Amino acid sequence: MINIPYLTALSTYFSYGLLFAFGQFRDFFRKIFDWWNASNLQGYAPICLGLEDFYIRRLYLRIQDCFGRPICSPPDAWFDVVERVSNDNNKTLNRTTKVSRCLNLGSYNYLGFASSDEYCTPRVIESLKTFSASTCSTRVDGGTTTLHSELEVCVANFVGKPAAIVFGMGYVTNSAILPVLIGKGGLIISDSLNHNSIVNGARGSGSTIRVFQHNTPSHLEKVLREHIAEGQPRTHRPWKKIIVVVEGIYSMEGELCQLPEIVAICKKYKAYVYLDEAHSIGAVGRTGRGVCELLGVDAADVEIMMGTFTKSFGSCGGYIAGSKELIEYLKYTCPAHLYATSISPPAAQQIISSINVILGEDGSSRGAQKLAQIRENSNFFRSELQKMGFEVLGDNDSPVMPIMLYNPAKIPAFSRECLKRKVAVVTVAFPATPLLLARARICISAAHSRDDLIKALEVISEVGDLVGIKYFPVEPNKEQLEANRVKLE
Ligand SMILES: Cc1ncc(COP(=O)(O)O)c(C=O)c1O
Ligand SMILES: *[C@@H]1O[C@H](CO)[C@@H](O)[C@H](O)[C@H]1NC(C)=O
Ligand SMILES: *[C@@H]1O[C@H](CO)[C@@H](O)[C@H](O)[C@H]1NC(C)=O
Ligand SMILES: *[C@@H]1O[C@H](CO)[C@@H](O)[C@H](O)[C@H]1NC(C)=O
Repeated sequence: MINIPYLTALSTYFSYGLLFAFGQFRDFFRKIFDWWNASNLQGYAPICLGLEDFYIRRLYLRIQDCFGRPICSPPDAWFDVVERVSNDNNKTLNRTTKVSRCLNLGSYNYLGFASSDEYCTPRVIESLKTFSASTCSTRVDGGTTTLHSELEVCVANFVGKPAAIVFGMGYVTNSAILPVLIGKGGLIISDSLNHNSIVNGARGSGSTIRVFQHNTPSHLEKVLREHIAEGQPRTHRPWKKIIVVVEGIYSMEGELCQLPEIVAICKKYKAYVYLDEAHSIGAVGRTGRGVCELLGVDAADVEIMMGTFTKSFGSCGGYIAGSKELIEYLKYTCPAHLYATSISPPAAQQIISSINVILGEDGSSRGAQKLAQIRENSNFFRSELQKMGFEVLGDNDSPVMPIMLYNPAKIPAFSRECLKRKVAVVTVAFPATPLLLARARICISAAHSRDDLIKALEVISEVGDLVGIKYFPVEPNKEQLEANRVKLE
């Protein structure tokens, strides 16, 4: 739940309203033009149609220089951002040969494995020589190398489950697994802010989908109880299966899941828990084992554990971990296992090696140091941002910290001014967030030094004053500020 200051809400609505009206006005004239230009009328419907097309052309393209910035180095604490030029108001952006060395506050490089590592990199290079970049085959044909089998054992051990199955892409792990686990006659109860891969997987499953208020166990219980009482639509038969889908750390909010409460409710109503640990596995918990370890939940109480290798492990792909029975079933039925080329061997090796480092099996204490560093860095950065008066979402220990911008004009202003000062930040807006709730999303890494963080804070503070996003001025009269806010989901 976010409370927006009234004035900010008003001006944000006004800005979007103006952009929308102006865009519609221009589209109206374009239509007249097109109608005039008979050669455009060839009988085809426009291939890009609807509100999305309008949004891209009239809103997104105006600020597209803030997105998709090409880089030409590993996404380490600092990285090289390629400078681009445009002579048509940023409609087309051309790369130059110039690069700008920037502090990286955008990548999900939580443990710093995304750059060259003394333990992982030589092994990854060796695996490339031994196995090549691709298996050119699916897992069930010629695409299972010894590395793949080793990886599945390694991941299962790491997350504390009897077995695991891995996929070449995290997104596909969610979107392809949910339709195998549940179908017509089943009920998926999904957190309102779950990732798009979960949303698409749930829709593709054909089961009934209900949403509960973001991270609110009491509302989950209400939804569960109502739907169990009601049963399936029309027939009112009992549900064939109920799965509750939540995330460990919400990637746009930086919030930790209320897992202990949610697990208790699911147990009470005999619903399965599906936990997406994309942003939490490796990043939180005393030994990096994610939210279960951090919040004291027994991994046995989470039936389906999902996660990705694209964040803390500096690789690619995703996994599902669960009982032996479940994983065996998935290996016979999941199309992303049967019909998709297996995860690249060097990527698999990177995951195995980084897990070895995290567990200290490389014979050093670097893993433990990284884990301590990410926690310390995250908590330092968050508390300093809050002291400066920014509105920062999320919980302590989470390396993801969104800074609220709200107003659409503040998105490019914040992003461009930071980049000018050699700090690269990611900004997110509609449709990835609700329309009013645009934000900059900071991702902290164990690779950041204290000096890096201090530089980042100085720049963000300066730009924050410039752009006007210190919504909680220092020593605020909290009650008065709260009174002037509208409640928004
Ligand atoms: C919660 C969540 N699940 C799944 C994914 C998809 O993972 P990948 O980027 O590895 O495809 C993401 C990606 O950011 C995510 O945030
Ligand atoms: C008219 O259509 C032609 C061919 O499709 C195109 O080249 C031209 O730019 C169009 N003119 C306008 C004013 O849209
Ligand atoms: C960008 O590249 C295109 C194609 O190479 C070229 O026609 C255009 O003039 C370039 N624009 C700028 C600003 O360099
Ligand atoms: C285009 O992008 C540049 C660099 O990010 C920015 O400074 C400039 O204001 C943008 N121009 C327009 C017309 O939006």
